[in-house]
Amino acid sequence: MNTMEWKPDKQSDIPIYKQIADYIQKRIAYGEYPPGSSLPSERSLAKSFDVNRGTIIAAYDELYSNGMVERIKGSGTKVSTDVWGLTRTRIPNWDLYVERGSFLPNLPIYQHIHEEIHERNLINFASGELAHDLMPYENFREILREHEFRQSLGYEHPQGNLDLRHTIAKHLKQHKNIECTSQSILVTSGAQQALHLLIQCLLNPGDAVAYEDPSYAHSLPTFRSAGLKTYKLPVSEHGINPEEIVHLHKRHKIKMVFLNPIFQNPTGTVLSVERRKRVLEITAELGIPVIEDDPYSLISFSEQTTPATLKSMDKNGTVLYISSLSKLAASGLRIGWIVGPHNVIHRLADAKQQIDFGHSILPQWLANEFLRSESFETHLQHVKHRLLEKRNVLISALQEELSDHLTFQIPDGGIHLWCRLASKINEYRLLEESLKNGVIFVPGSLLGSQTGHIRLTYGRAETESIPEGIARLKQALLKL
Ligand SMILES: Cc1ncc(COP(=O)(O)O)c(C=O)c1O
Repeated sequence: MNTMEWKPDKQSDIPIYKQIADYIQKRIAYGEYPPGSSLPSERSLAKSFDVNRGTIIAAYDELYSNGMVERIKGSGTKVSTDVWGLTRTRIPNWDLYVERGSFLPNLPIYQHIHEEIHERNLINFASGELAHDLMPYENFREILREHEFRQSLGYEHPQGNLDLRHTIAKHLKQHKNIECTSQSILVTSGAQQALHLLIQCLLNPGDAVAYEDPSYAHSLPTFRSAGLKTYKLPVSEHGINPEEIVHLHKRHKIKMVFLNPIFQNPTGTVLSVERRKRVLEITAELGIPVIEDDPYSLISFSEQTTPATLKSMDKNGTVLYISSLSKLAASGLRIGWIVGPHNVIHRLADAKQQIDFGHSILPQWLANEFLRSESFETHLQHVKHRLLEKRNVLISALQEELSDHLTFQIPDGGIHLWCRLASKINEYRLLEESLKNGVIFVPGSLLGSQTGHIRLTYGRAETESIPEGIARLKQALLKL
């Protein structure tokens, strides 16, 4: 019960226990506590309302005497199931609604991982984002201090703020050699919304799509929610084998190919230049669009230029390109974008308008000021430098502690390390044991069909905590 916003009024003439009983009764009536659900313990309520436990007992007695709650020895106080039969009102069967919706929930294990991350202070190798000390807090403060906000606070253009789209177009030209104009850009709530919009607007239930195995996309129930048939493109050292697209197309008539070619999540691999060229040849011949999901290509650790995106090599307009600021700046900013042909962008913008009337101006304004400022380049160099350091600390810790137990391919960029477990260790049991030790990662089979792998993300963990995290992982592993 979120009692933070409410406290009994100690000056009131109404006795405190009565105020509390009324308050709980309202929460029950509003449906927050369905029939049969447990109410908080007397002790915890007394603490949050800042009253004696006796006052809570009196409040629960009051609710008990009017039939609202039941008291079951050993299991506390529950909302009565009988009382609802006596009244004329009927409570909707929320469980049924929750189970039947066509938009599918995340897998329970994913929900479990998210809850653990949010509720506990763990050494976090699971979240696919930057550590807080890599996020540009100071740059944003400076923008807020030094730039006047003069944008309209009305509904934004559904394609996104025009200034930001101009800036994204310049950014793409400068950093990725991608030619586009503000007309061919749609601003989205991260790359995630871009993927969702594409799937919803350009595909139909029953359509076949090909995607990397393992991949981030594997974790997207979005594909299943849209009723798509999914076919896997196995990822090896140099990414997928483009010829597989031809084979799949012959058998299943593939409608779209989803790729994260550079510093792939979770394997960290880069689709080799030859393979990138071949993907473009094949898909252009077959007339299949490629969705290039590219959140990581600017996080390259090599001194040479970053690997060229498919979009920058695309001569036939086959590629719809997605990227975001989540892995370069801040995942909580929720700024991503799609680049594509005008008719596609208009269609998606129309859908975005129906969903949320366009993206909020505040993060768009901030993103625009940041992307066009000189400090963006400095920040980017800083992030790359620090991520390389994190990657190296992780690799040294693994080589020292776990070289007998797992192997990996060293990524040249991005934020993830994909590890193969040496023996037949169950990743889920390893996760449970690791959680007991205060460390978390993503079991590989959540991301693809291969078992015996784990994804260790070095982007999110504090550098100093990485060796300790690996020591704890080792302890967990030795217990299995
Ligand atoms: C390959 C890939 N695509 C898309 C996303 C979604 O990122 P966001 O919506 O924060 O831009 C992620 C996040 O982990 C990712 O790894």
